Amino acid sequence: MNENVLVRVKDLKMHFPIRAGILKRTVGVVRAVDGVSFDILRGETLGLVGESGCGKTTTGRAILRLYEPTSGEVNFRGNDLASESAEEVRRTRRHMQMIFQDPYASLNPQMRVGEIIARPLRVHKLASNAREEKEMVADIMQKVGLNVNFRDRFPHEFSGGQRQRIGIARALATSPDFIVCDEPISALDVSIQAQIINLLEQLREDLGLTYLFIAHDLSMVRYLSTRVGVMYLGKMMEMSSADELYDSPLHPYTKALLSAIPIPDPPLERRRQRTLLAGDPPSPANPPAGCRFSTRCPIAVEHCRKVEPEFRLATEGHWVACHLV
Ligand SMILES: Nc1ncnc2c1ncn2[C@@H]1O[C@H](COP(=O)(O)OP(=O)(O)O)[C@@H](O)[C@H]1O
Ligand SMILES: [Mg+2]
Repeated sequence: MNENVLVRVKDLKMHFPIRAGILKRTVGVVRAVDGVSFDILRGETLGLVGESGCGKTTTGRAILRLYEPTSGEVNFRGNDLASESAEEVRRTRRHMQMIFQDPYASLNPQMRVGEIIARPLRVHKLASNAREEKEMVADIMQKVGLNVNFRDRFPHEFSGGQRQRIGIARALATSPDFIVCDEPISALDVSIQAQIINLLEQLREDLGLTYLFIAHDLSMVRYLSTRVGVMYLGKMMEMSSADELYDSPLHPYTKALLSAIPIPDPPLERRRQRTLLAGDPPSPANPPAGCRFSTRCPIAVEHCRKVEPEFRLATEGHWVACHLV
């Protein structure tokens, strides 16, 4: 495997059973992630976007082994996690962490901030004594811009932005290489979103981190991401460098997502052609035949409704799953 590849995802599937009745028989499956393949390169920020429910969070969680994937492979630093022993997975996990969407729900309200941050240090036995642990916690708090004197406070005593800093501190405690940032600012006030984004960007630079950055809209990830992947109903539709994706999108779905972003120039905004996405995506329990986007696609032809397009390299570094581009 290429030296620059930190994470390699191959045909990853994550299906959840739908159970019904008193016997809880499986009556179907939700194809939350249904065969995605991509690499995450060392030091990059890979943006992952798509409408709510398209499988972004599930992809992130399956990569981190917070879910046991239905099938497919996840390689981390050249090791296939599926073939590792429980002990090896435990050790690998230290190097991959997650920052959650909701800083209110993801922090234990009964734990003091210092304990929340110290916990991963204890789980992975990273401090040799109490004094060292205390120093490490102080160091991490300082890195994320939290006042060290507040270490004995509880999460509810902090504002939303500061709570997300606690979540970031907890993720950083084990000195990971790779962090899945799952919509880390979407629950926050607009006025503090930029601060958290700047902090994440600063930390990435200072600590040499690699991010999978999940967001539901494209405007968010543009300036953060080296490359961007666009998901729809459990599948990857397009992936390329961020600039190319915004300047020369290929997939009709990407074009529709882009045209939903307002242009801050009124004359240009009035003149431009919009592709509007009608309705909601179909259910991932019963995805359309052929191309999953065909039921909402403005250019779909008969073939699209029958044959599923391959995710292929269209031009250098630019992947797309569409018969018509
Ligand atoms: N633990 C779960 N059990 C059953 N279905 C789930 C579970 N997690 C997610 N899903 C379903 O999988 C699909 C993808 O969800 P998710 O990955 O959370 O999407 P996104 O993060 O893009 O909004 C949705 O239809 C969701 O309802
Ligand atoms: Mg999500």
